[in-house]
This record gives sequence, C-alpha cells and structure tokens, in this order.
Amino acid sequence: MTKSIVVLGTQWGDEGKGKIVDLLSKDVDAVVRFQGGHNAGHTLVTDGHKTVLHLVPSGILNEGAQCLIGNGVVVSLEALKKETEALEAHGVDVRSRLGISPACPIIMPYHELLDHAREKAKGAKAIGTTGRGIGPAYEDKVSRRGIRLSDLYNPGLLAEKLEEAMDFHNFVLDRYFGMQTLSYDRVLDDTLQLGACFSELVTDVSGELHRLRTQGKRILYEGAQGSLLDIDHGTYPFVTSSNTTIGAVCTGAGVGPDAIDYVLGITKAYTTRVGSGPFPTELFDDIGAGIARRGDEFGATTGRPRRCGWLDAVALRRAAHTNGVSGFCVTKLDVLDEVETIKVGIAYRLDDEILDVPPQNPEAWDDLQVEYESFPGWMESTRGITRFDDLPDNAKTYLAAMEALCGAPVHMVSTGPDRKEIIVIKHPAE
Ligand code: GDP
Ligand code: IMO
Ligand code: MG
Repeated sequence: MTKSIVVLGTQWGDEGKGKIVDLLSKDVDAVVRFQGGHNAGHTLVTDGHKTVLHLVPSGILNEGAQCLIGNGVVVSLEALKKETEALEAHGVDVRSRLGISPACPIIMPYHELLDHAREKAKGAKAIGTTGRGIGPAYEDKVSRRGIRLSDLYNPGLLAEKLEEAMDFHNFVLDRYFGMQTLSYDRVLDDTLQLGACFSELVTDVSGELHRLRTQGKRILYEGAQGSLLDIDHGTYPFVTSSNTTIGAVCTGAGVGPDAIDYVLGITKAYTTRVGSGPFPTELFDDIGAGIARRGDEFGATTGRPRRCGWLDAVALRRAAHTNGVSGFCVTKLDVLDEVETIKVGIAYRLDDEILDVPPQNPEAWDDLQVEYESFPGWMESTRGITRFDDLPDNAKTYLAAMEALCGAPVHMVSTGPDRKEIIVIKHPAE
C-alpha cells in the first residue's frame, strides 16, 4: 500500500495543485508544504465555494489531515495571520491542525521592499515576481543572515540578528535604491508581536513526520510553483528562488528519499505562465485568448493575466525525468472543449538540431523553434465527467498521446474546478 505522495507542478505553476491536494487529502493523515512561500496561490473549490490558499497547506479543509509547514518554506507571518483569520472566519479550525517548523526563514518587511525595488530597477528586464519578498528572503537564508521562526522566541538573539540584517538592508535601500529606510525598533516590535501569535504552532516538522511515518500514517507533500520555475532546472533567471522539483521534499521537510512512494506530476492540458521569460509554445492569437477566457486564466496571488499556449511535451518530458514522475494528473481538459484543432509541441529545433528535451543554457530558449503535432478537438463538453469511459474518443486519443509524448502515464484527469470534477484512473495512494 502506497503511503506517501508528492504533488508537484510540472509547468510554470498554477497547474491545479491545490485542487488535487485538497481532494487527495481525505485519504492522508498529513499534508506538508516544503518550499516556496506566499507567492503560491492554490485554489480549492468545494460545492461551488472557492478558497484560495497561499501558505496554509491545501489539506486544511479536510478535518482528518494535519497540516505542516516545513523548514524549506519562507514564511511571512503577516500573510499567514491574514490567511488563518480568513479561514477561521469561515469556520475552518486552523490553529489546532497547523504546525510550523522553527527553522522556517521569516520574510521580513525589508524583503518585500527589496523585491519591489529590484524589479523596478530592472525595468524591461524585470522577472515579474509576485512582489512578496521571496527572493530576498531566500538570499538571506543562504547568506546566513536570515531570521528564523525560532529566533522570535529569543528576544535578545532576535534583537542582535535583526540589527545586523537591518544595517545591511537599510544601507542597500538607502544608498543603492535611494529609498526610505525602515525603523529598526518598529520592525523588532512588529516581529515579536507576530511571533507571539504563532508560538503554540511551532512544531519540529521533521520529527513529527518521522513519528507519523513510524506509525504507518500517510503523508502528502504539496509542491508550490512548478518545475520550469525551479531555481536550478527552470528557465533561469526567470524562475522563483527555491527548488520546486523533487529534491526539495527531502531538504524542505526533513525526510529521507524513502519517504517518497509516488510522485504525481500536475500539468494542464495546455500551458500557462505568469510573469516574464521564455514560453516556446505561447499563443498570441484568438485561440490563446479563448483558452485564457474559458480557463479563467488570472493569477490566484496577483490577479495578473496568465499567458497561454499549447501543451509543451518537450518541457514536460524533462519535468518527468527530473522529478521521477510516477503518473501525471492532467487538469483543465474541459478548457479545450471548443478548440477545433489542438496542437502539442513535440520537439524543439535549435539552429539545425532537433531537441527532445529543452536546452540547459537559458539563453538558447529565446531562439527555439517548436515542432508541433496536431490533434482533432472533441468539440463537446467534458465538464464534470468522472469516468474515463465517458470521455469523447478524441479526448481519449489526446490523453494517450500525452502519455506517449511526455514520458509517464496519465493517472488522473480533472474536468472542472470543483473537487468532485475528477477522473481517477489510478489512485496515487493505491
Ligand atoms: P495551483 O497554483 O497549481 O494550485 O493552481 P491555481 O489554483 O493557481 O490555478 C488553477 C485554476 O484552475 C484555479 O482557478 C482552479 O480552480 C482551476 N481549475 C483546476 N482544475 C480545473 C479543471 O479541471 N478545469 C477548470 N476549468 N478549472 C480548473
Ligand atoms: P503556484 O504555487 C505561477 C512566478 C512569478 C515570477 C517568478 C518569480 O500558485 O503555482 P517570485 O515571487 O517567486 O520571486 O516570482 O515565479 N511564480 C509563480 N507563477 N504560480 C506560482 O505559484 C508562482 N510563484 C511564483 O510570476 O514569474
Ligand atoms: Mg497558483
């Protein structure tokens, strides 16, 4: 019996991870976030009611699931407080089920200011970040200047560490960006107050996972962003600042590789991207606009319109290798219901060379030509279908082609935003 499942995005994020984690969470004992921060926007729809989560794991609507935030997540306590309060206002008991690792780096107010200042300074070359301070917070962690959650319960240590961090960042804000600096006393007070709100939730996540595993409990690891936004394997520098691929589960939750039994790679039936950077199969025509409209393609965190394009089997092939994908979950199949001819990028051409996986030198992405294969659309509604056999033949053919082209079997198909709009071909926990 499979015990632990990892859910990962295999494109540029927003593949529908939240929906799938929510529906799988009824079959597990704990759901764990292990990287990213509140740059994530994970949408859950249950009986028509929409919940958007940024930091709280997407198992929170299932009372049987403990929710954990591992050390790999950069945490804005202000954002977490808002999110927790909003959930509690809707009757969701967050505090009794949420645990946060004391080793989580804290996103501080200067991180957000620096994120904005840098993007502004980059002008046309901006990354298009979510502006949440994610990059600067991860930089502070790596430079060993970061404030961790545990520091907030040791005021003397916090005061000392904050002084060093703010000396540096206020200097950069003032002298490099010509911006207003932040008051040390104010930041210290606010941080101590926010820390106090979460003191009871501090949990040794790695230790807790070990305990759950020895009891034979099932654990679900919830990825944020997607493989193409990975700091090492993505379209650098147009990426996020964490590893979004499989290795981050071990480092960001504090478990060994034997903790992973099944990797579910989430992909849309087409492709989207928010922010700047290469997107070889991007559409600039009415078909792309139609997909954006039917798919309601606006970012769940920033509300920005998402760029839309055809499925990119070349990039998905790489994601399948990089993550050891056991099976794909194809989401938003219904969005293609009215597309007459559906194309899939099956290879890249770079100069005269044909590539079946993307190049690893990022600048080459700008010069790629895409080779496509065309598939006839099904031109009927698949919305809400829950049995594979009920899908139109052309949809079945498209999914079979995806399996053959992308290097892993399709185990689930999502046919609408609601939790119950799902086809389960093979359940990841079985
Ligand atoms: P995540 O970041 O990977 O969790 O994905 P987001 O929540 O940012 O974006 C996915 C969007 O697609 C959300 O608005 C979901 O409600 C919606 N969605 C998920 N699965 C489906 C589906 O199968 N069909 C349709 N039409 N919408 C879906
Ligand atoms: P979920 O978990 C889509 C993108 C931003 C930007 C780049 C860097 O909902 O799939 P950052 O703020 O992380 O420094 O921005 O990464 N990005 C996402 N795009 N979905 C996300 O999360 C994203 N999180 C970050 O748009 O291009
Ligand atoms: Mg999202």
